[in-house]
Amino acid sequence: MVSGSKAGTSPHREIEVMRQSIDDHLAGLLPETDSQDIVSLAMREGVMAPGKRIRPLLMLLAARDLRYQGSMPTLLDLACAVELTHTASLMLDDMPCMDNAEQRRGQPTTHKKFGESVAILASVGLLSKAFGLIAATGDLPGERRAQAVNELSTAVGVQGLVLGQFRDLNDAALDRTPDAILSTNHLKTGILFSAMLQIVAIASASSSSTRETLHAFALDFGQAFQLLDDLRDDHPETGKDRNKDAGKSTLVNRLGADAARQKLREHIDSADRHLTFACPQGGAIRQFMHLWFGHHLADWSPVMKIA
Ligand code: IPE
Ligand code: IPE
Ligand code: MG
Ligand code: MG
Ligand code: MG
Repeated sequence: MVSGSKAGTSPHREIEVMRQSIDDHLAGLLPETDSQDIVSLAMREGVMAPGKRIRPLLMLLAARDLRYQGSMPTLLDLACAVELTHTASLMLDDMPCMDNAEQRRGQPTTHKKFGESVAILASVGLLSKAFGLIAATGDLPGERRAQAVNELSTAVGVQGLVLGQFRDLNDAALDRTPDAILSTNHLKTGILFSAMLQIVAIASASSSSTRETLHAFALDFGQAFQLLDDLRDDHPETGKDRNKDAGKSTLVNRLGADAARQKLREHIDSADRHLTFACPQGGAIRQFMHLWFGHHLADWSPVMKIA
């Protein structure tokens, strides 16, 4: 038994229960609508398609590690706001003017199903809903809600995910250096992982030193997560188009799969070390990280033993 899971419950079972509560909360936020309301339908279908929900799951686990004392509905609002934001970014990422993808979460991409204009509007609708959700959520004091909105807006904005996506699209065909790729991956992927943990830390009234180490953890975790995504580009079971990164200067294409796997391990080891400082009293995120990468990388040998 690893600290972080409740006594007698397997970590896998607990994660499934959390995933269900996230899905139920998302469904409540995006109720079924009149079929004439195509944009709302596209928002609901895009979000409710079977995503892995790693961001909201990590937020719920972080709340446990940080001894969050607020209510569960508020925590789920915060976690689902991040999932809505992430789904909005995927809808845009899949558009013909970006990655031109046809499959997402095992289903046709939003623009394939509903058309490009609906995909753009659904993405804007989701972003707007995400910010509104945090701004209006139940039991967080107003100042902390404002801080949380600010974290998310900074992560998504022109200095964050938007810049990362722009660079990723414009520099992909160039012979980028590994550092340039890491910097773009940080902006397009890592920054949202950081913001979401900051949001949980704000809601948990965590100290500034805890917040700094969580930020460092998230940056390593985000790099590892994007590396795993790039390594699985040709995998048949991602629910996405295969070989989308052909001809793109990803770290996998630049360094080769073995070196990329090694880099991924280094980021996970580093993330693990940061967590030891950030959450010495709990290991829920740490346990999850090793389970996750163990599941997706066949030859993974965790730093931490999972009972
Ligand atoms: C895909 O994210 C985009 C990346 C940052 C690599 P996920 O792999 O979390 O996608 P879903 O949410 O499970 O569909
Ligand atoms: C992540 O990169 C994109 C976003 C942050 C939206 P990818 O373009 O590699 O993500 P996938 O592979 O389409 O999910
Ligand atoms: Mg992309
Ligand atoms: Mg893509
Ligand atoms: Mg990818």
